[in-house]
Amino acid sequence: MYANSRVPESAQTGIHERLAELVERHRREPFRKPILDYNRAAFEAAMVAWGGEKPLILDAACGTGASSVLLARQNPDAFVIGVDQSLARLATAKGELPANLCLVRADLVDFWRLLAERGVKLARHCLFYPNPWPKIGHLSRRWHGHAVFPVLPRLGGVIECRSNWRIYVEEFAFALGLLLGREIGWEAFAPGEPLGEPVSPFERKYRDSGLSLYRCVVDLREGG
Ligand SMILES: C[S@@+](CC[C@H](N)C(=O)[O-])C[C@H]1O[C@@H](n2cnc3c(N)ncnc32)[C@H](O)[C@@H]1O
Repeated sequence: MYANSRVPESAQTGIHERLAELVERHRREPFRKPILDYNRAAFEAAMVAWGGEKPLILDAACGTGASSVLLARQNPDAFVIGVDQSLARLATAKGELPANLCLVRADLVDFWRLLAERGVKLARHCLFYPNPWPKIGHLSRRWHGHAVFPVLPRLGGVIECRSNWRIYVEEFAFALGLLLGREIGWEAFAPGEPLGEPVSPFERKYRDSGLSLYRCVVDLREGG
């Protein structure tokens, strides 16, 4: 049945007690996992498609690419790269894609590091509805608990994480705040702002299920 989504069930009632320690460890220790060839190839193809001129928007874990299409249409002067590891999801991207969009299959753990290595600065960085991994033991699978997380603020841009699990967004803001050395806020929001359309299939499903939604938006551009 459609529109029967629920808030992720978790034994956690607030920010994970080990998150601060984990973020500090990831900040201190270099992340050495080798970058796989298929991610390097996907990255190079995306860089060629972008061309390096227009402001760059990254739709990180774009799923079917519906949010990437929306971002590309809303920002005709920018270029959008939508990245997802699932070929099956990307393959459902519908219709002709806007010329200022490319969808690539890659693992973000490598793709983010390649962007940082190349010195690419984003204009906007969207993380819409990441898998929540709500079990206490799954902290390191959430993006802010992952070893790659310290790379994200290096990419700059206006970074935005959205979730239907309040704790995910609270943790994301807390972990980003630890890396940036300042307090970062988060908020509940009504989907569809400002244009009246949910940004992605997951947002639509959660809205239609009557769930509360949360987001953390931070301007990491120079002077932002
Ligand atoms: C809950 S879905 C959200 C999809 C889309 N952003 C939306 O809002 O409709 C999470 C997506 O994250 C993708 N994903 C998870 N881990 C990933 C990784 N390491 N690299 C790239 N994509 C990943 C999954 O394939 C899936 O499409």
